Amino acid sequence: MKILILNGPNLNLLGTREPGIYGKETLGDIEKSLQTLAGENNFTVDMRQTNSENELVSWVQDAAKHGFEGILINPAAFGHTSIALRDALATFNGRKVEVHLSNTYKREIFRKNKLISPVCDGVIEGFGAKSYLLALESLF
Ligand code: DQA
Repeated sequence: MKILILNGPNLNLLGTREPGIYGKETLGDIEKSLQTLAGENNFTVDMRQTNSENELVSWVQDAAKHGFEGILINPAAFGHTSIALRDALATFNGRKVEVHLSNTYKREIFRKNKLISPVCDGVIEGFGAKSYLLALESLF
């Protein structure tokens, strides 16, 4: 199964960005663990990060055309604000899992607004870098 793993704004800063909330692992460390887990289960993953809403929407739009059967997405702040991202994900017919490192329900009230959750199959959050691995496992 070919999986697209998308990361939204500021996730390029993982490792140094508020480590008390997001942990000390970099996005590169997380990708390494995901590649290992995927390889052990005959999955192919393509992991990307962008700070641009435009680019994120375009990647989702093109996912099916490029043969991806599932999308795992940490939309970061766009998950709370982007109707465009929600609408793009709604058009993708494969499996979709939303991921967050932190438990957003334990945080500020504005993070409770979850625009993409209703168009995803499931949401995994609050387990740090492990959230990504659990999300990938949910597709096995
Ligand atoms: C996050 C949670 C979001 O609320 C926040 O804007 C992020 C990271 C997480 O992984 O915990 O950038 O998606």
